[in-house]
Amino acid sequence: MIDAKTKVFGLLANPIGHSLSPRFQNALAAYCGENAVYLPFEVKRPETLEAALKGAHALGIAGLNVTVPYKEAVIPYLSGLSEEARLIGAVNTLVRSEEGYVGHNTDIAGMERMLLRQGLSIRGAKVLVLGAGGAARSAAVLAALKGAAELVILNRNKERAEALAKSLRNVAPELPVLTEGLDAWESLSGNDYLAIQCTSVGMWPKAEEAVIADPRFYEKLSAAADIVYTPAETEFLRLARAAGKPTVGGLPMLISQGIHAFSLWTGKTCTAADEESLLKLVREALPA
Ligand code: ATR
Repeated sequence: MIDAKTKVFGLLANPIGHSLSPRFQNALAAYCGENAVYLPFEVKRPETLEAALKGAHALGIAGLNVTVPYKEAVIPYLSGLSEEARLIGAVNTLVRSEEGYVGHNTDIAGMERMLLRQGLSIRGAKVLVLGAGGAARSAAVLAALKGAAELVILNRNKERAEALAKSLRNVAPELPVLTEGLDAWESLSGNDYLAIQCTSVGMWPKAEEAVIADPRFYEKLSAAADIVYTPAETEFLRLARAAGKPTVGGLPMLISQGIHAFSLWTGKTCTAADEESLLKLVREALPA
């Protein structure tokens, strides 16, 4: 029940569109017995972003998620930045402090947790990131921070892959990083690459596409993860599964980063059973 003690959380975005976060976060608060409500805040005009943040703080809003197009734009208006958010250069979670909001990025934690669930550790692994955009940056920073033995970044636009690799040099100077175009997968040796698919290819409604369609590519992997979560099993993951490799879907990662945000705000986390219920709830709300 909403009463005088109810904490308010919310999402800053434009447009809010079909965001799953309000449904998801409100269900999570209920599972955890947190007296809280999570609301969508559509900040229609970018020039009002600073005022929106100041207003949110003045009103006592306890925490916020931030998504497109404000993940980078909010940074100048924050009172601090976590290490991971600084390295990624984008935030998705704001935690309230006396002076303002501190920006965090829960993508790395979500991704790592999703992999660990399947017994896949980054430490010592040969990590293969497909893509060089924002999501790929999180995966590459994860590899750099968590002790990957080697990082390969393959992207359609090779220059973008190089720029991403270059920006990691200060983070993990010892980490060998190879950048190439997508076709270069044929020259990868071994069969032990932990692949993290970070392009938008294969997203519903173009679910029949995979960023690399040749089944021989999947023989080179030890496991495959995909950040795309519509459909739940992408063509990329289907091909990996057909090659007998373990797979990790994008939906558990999405949920995991949301749970991480919630625990940054409240100090609480949910049980595995609650997590299963959340996964079901989110799956039902998706188009495919
Ligand atoms: P995000 O922030 O979600 O990662 P992004 O910055 O737009 O989004 O990056 C999208 C990624 O998907 C890029 O790596 C992009 O490749 P380019 O850098 O070459 O554009 C990749 N991508 C999108 N469509 C693609 C396609 N049809 N084939 C291959 N890669 C594609």
